[in-house]
Amino acid sequence: MMKPRKSIVNMQAYSPPTQERGAAIRLDFNENTVGCSPTVTAAVVQALSENSVAMYPEYGSARDIFSSFFEVDSAQLAITNGTDEAIQLLINTYMDAGDELVITSPSYAMYRFYAEVAGVRVREVKYSLDTDLEFPMDALLLSISASTNAIFIANPNNPTGGAISIPEIRRILEAAPNAVVLIDEAYMEFCGITAIGLLSEYGNLFISRTMSKAYGMAGLRCGFLISSASNIGWVRKAQSPYSVNYVAVAAAVAAIKDKAYIENYVNQVVQARSYVSAEMSRLGIRHFKSDGNFVLFMVGEHAERIVSDLRAAGVLVRNRSHECEGSLRVTVGTTDQMKNFIHELERAL
Ligand SMILES: Cc1ncc(COP(=O)(O)O)c(C=O)c1O
Repeated sequence: MMKPRKSIVNMQAYSPPTQERGAAIRLDFNENTVGCSPTVTAAVVQALSENSVAMYPEYGSARDIFSSFFEVDSAQLAITNGTDEAIQLLINTYMDAGDELVITSPSYAMYRFYAEVAGVRVREVKYSLDTDLEFPMDALLLSISASTNAIFIANPNNPTGGAISIPEIRRILEAAPNAVVLIDEAYMEFCGITAIGLLSEYGNLFISRTMSKAYGMAGLRCGFLISSASNIGWVRKAQSPYSVNYVAVAAAVAAIKDKAYIENYVNQVVQARSYVSAEMSRLGIRHFKSDGNFVLFMVGEHAERIVSDLRAAGVLVRNRSHECEGSLRVTVGTTDQMKNFIHELERAL
């Protein structure tokens, strides 16, 4: 057996429960619960029927379409294989082994994952149940030092749910002018807060967006990294030239054009989110304000049993007890799906 690098031996393995999910109501991965727009499926079929499978993908005209959608220059945008590639690219471009990344905890697992692969040191700033999982701004600002090379923030944060405001994002950017600051906007469609308007003011700001969540394209793997043209120049230098396949790009172009589909889905989720919150209050379940398409709630010592009872009833939710003792996270879909979930949850309780 060949010996891997030390950082691979030492890192925690990440193995999400992605087996046999197809038949259930999937409320465990914060995906779109009804699927992508029919125009996306049509674009996939069309792309496959063209004689393009034999060709390496070209991104030129698609990059122009995406950059005008985000209202940035095309030189400010990298098309990535999901947010995950954007995270990895930032680490590959800006961090050496031993450098320091600051993240909040709990947050998206892939920040630590790619940092550990690269031998980057991770400093965690904890959310606290004592403050209802409010964003730990003061602790974050205190943790920033001259040796902080990067700060990755999910906004809204997964799994806690809350989003920070533009003035709060400014405070972080200004506290760490020499650090790469990633604002991961994977769930921004569900709260409308974006830091894109700050790009011209802060040379350390990077924003990632994804087609995996609201747009219902998690299986196609397409995302974006946005920053100044000079920063993106370096990132693209470090990027594999064909990391996003052309079917995903064609699908993403179709998806952003179908504005009505996304608006309608987001409205449904926002309504259903209020419903879930109201029902949890009725049931006396402690839960946290969410700006995303998911809600974190507390069930105490019964977490594992409730997850398996719900699975038996055909509803998948995620146990987050490893990062917040006794908590479960449910993805919010349509109100009908959430009625079903609340019904089964009430039974399981
Ligand atoms: C905060 C956050 N960012 C990014 C992702 C994944 O995005 P992608 O599918 O674009 O890699 C997730 C998925 O759960 C997430 O929670």
